[in-house]
Amino acid sequence: MKKLSELLAEYHKTDECLVGYNFNDVWDVQAICEAAERKNVPVMLMAYTKVVDALGLDVLHAIVACMKKRYSVPVYLHLDHCDDITLCLQAVDVGFDSVMFDGSHMPLEENIKLTKQVVDYAHAKGVVVEAEIGKIRGRGVDGDDYLAAVSDVVQLAEQTGVDMIAVGIGTAHGHYEGKPEINFDRLLEIHKAVDVPLVLHGGTGIPEQDIRRSLTMGISKINVGTAIHTAYMQNLGQQIQLDGLDAYPPFTIKKILPQVEKEVANYLEMVD
Ligand code: 13P
Repeated sequence: MKKLSELLAEYHKTDECLVGYNFNDVWDVQAICEAAERKNVPVMLMAYTKVVDALGLDVLHAIVACMKKRYSVPVYLHLDHCDDITLCLQAVDVGFDSVMFDGSHMPLEENIKLTKQVVDYAHAKGVVVEAEIGKIRGRGVDGDDYLAAVSDVVQLAEQTGVDMIAVGIGTAHGHYEGKPEINFDRLLEIHKAVDVPLVLHGGTGIPEQDIRRSLTMGISKINVGTAIHTAYMQNLGQQIQLDGLDAYPPFTIKKILPQVEKEVANYLEMVD
């Protein structure tokens, strides 16, 4: 399997883009990998710390290790939005391909200092690190101070040697109310100022033309979560009503995986 750092470097040069999907269990992992295999593209599986708390780093790593063997496309495992240094380092030790240290809510100096600690540890073991500057809106993050300052991104990039940077440019986690307002001018300024792959968070609901436009401005990874868990839970809820509460879980869950897979495939098409 190609190393994630090599893939990102290649995508950074060619305006191609990796899609990272938040996953919650072994079923949605399967749907995500199936869609990637069908399309024959690499894919990233991203665990929020809530999922780590529920299942453990070792279990998540073991699930994804099995999927890496089962599928022919590269499958990368990533720890998403973690502000706990210890957990980031543990994920590196367990064998994650990538970890995100999210110090976006900290003063810049603190964010840089802690990101650098994670980078130093992770790079020694060949693991990729994502950092964040500015804020991703939604899920309790509101207010107007979300926009990433170009000078902050430059400072963080230069002082940490981080592999990819999530930038606050107006996107939000969760479902958008209305059309997302993305500050493409700021994205372009950042892209021109740093030679680092950039990450677009809050992928759910961003129109295709906006996604495609962002790829020409340094975005090398897009994160998608809500679209997948919504497809999973809504379809499962409906299927349980049809099958009855005494239904056998694997049969009922398997019936709805094609719908989850379809949602995954939508985003793979958009970056194609
Ligand atoms: P959505 O859940 O809005 O798609 O965002 C996912 C994300 O950015 C994870 O880091």
